[in-house]
Amino acid sequence: MTILAIETSCDETSAAVVRDGRILSNAVSSQIELHAEYGGVVPELAAREHLKNLLPVAKTALSDANISADQLDAIAATQGPGLPAALLVGLKAAQAVAFALRKPFIGIHHHEAHLYSPWICSIASPHEPGSAGVPPASSIRAGETPALPATALGNSPSPVAGVSGVDTAKQFTADFSAFQPNVSLIVSGGHTMLVLVESELKHRVLGSTVDDAAGECFDKTGKMMGLAYPAGPEMDRLSESGNPKAFDFPRPLLHDASDDFSFSGLKTSVRYFLRDNPALLDDPHKIRDLCASIQAAIVEVLVAKTIRAARSNGVRCVTASGGVTRNRALRQQLALACKKNGFTLHLADKSLCTDNAAMIGILAEQKLAHKIPATGLDEDIKPGWVLA
Ligand code: KG4
Ligand code: ZN
Repeated sequence: MTILAIETSCDETSAAVVRDGRILSNAVSSQIELHAEYGGVVPELAAREHLKNLLPVAKTALSDANISADQLDAIAATQGPGLPAALLVGLKAAQAVAFALRKPFIGIHHHEAHLYSPWICSIASPHEPGSAGVPPASSIRAGETPALPATALGNSPSPVAGVSGVDTAKQFTADFSAFQPNVSLIVSGGHTMLVLVESELKHRVLGSTVDDAAGECFDKTGKMMGLAYPAGPEMDRLSESGNPKAFDFPRPLLHDASDDFSFSGLKTSVRYFLRDNPALLDDPHKIRDLCASIQAAIVEVLVAKTIRAARSNGVRCVTASGGVTRNRALRQQLALACKKNGFTLHLADKSLCTDNAAMIGILAEQKLAHKIPATGLDEDIKPGWVLA
């Protein structure tokens, strides 16, 4: 089965071709630079950018995969949740392609796709049972525009700046052979949640953030220190040479009985601390200490609550995905904690942590394999779609 998948729920325009669990291509055009100027994602701009980039990105995905449109068996797209105008671009384009090709269309829940992305691994270093703490290496190559031969979609190719794809030296495939019930942490700029995944396609949300997402906390506290949006990656880098114990910031809901998260109190605490100690920001060493201390607070909460949820639900496997899962301290601490508890850990490959169409295609394929009915071509976007 060969599927063309599209993802446009936020600020990444992505198209991927997936065949029998293998990712043949995964083209991503990120809008980070565009939105950085405004300190966050501007929905109207995101939608316009998706409109501009979707066709060339889809052509890149098809040509990278060496697949023509008539070889496709199904089309998939993110149906929700996400920014309404952004979702509309991908969903309606995918439905139109499905209509034109007379192929089934599958509307995918973005978070549900994240749940299975940790099972997509490099063929060179497949996940092995018990491979806890061995995060696979990054695979996205820095924004190079691939050559775009004309494809079966018609028009002459129009390259998009900054399109990146799966490293051709590395093959990725979804490997569910080692699947086991797990607690999955989804952590990004828009969401932070813990989900119990009982079996393939069967899951239950345990908890989620009651206010800010963890990535938002990185981005907003970083902004207070003068770092550019999104601040998470830079805080990760600066933290490497900072002291995580230099400043003691709160660990919200760390000991709370629920599986929910809250990060706005931590953000406020950093704001007041900087208001009372403005001179710290003049010292680059102190900025590194601040980054490391804030990161330590966020990571401790994420790791402790994930492990506790796994223990209390009697599962011995943890998975993690979403943009913040690129964070080195989080990867290391999760690996350590899983090792200590005898849990298997599957972390999404760094190239697949952030939003991408490959995970949409993999889930669509799973749904078709499990005989889940196709989505109507007249179905609308679901911007507030809640994961059950
Ligand atoms: O999944 P994603 O690309 O988009 C959504 O929010 O859905 O995640 C982006 C978030 C941003 O908040 C960004 O700061 C954070 O992921 N992020 C990181 C790192 N890389 C990305 N946060 C901490 N450390 C990182 N290395
Ligand atoms: Zn996401």
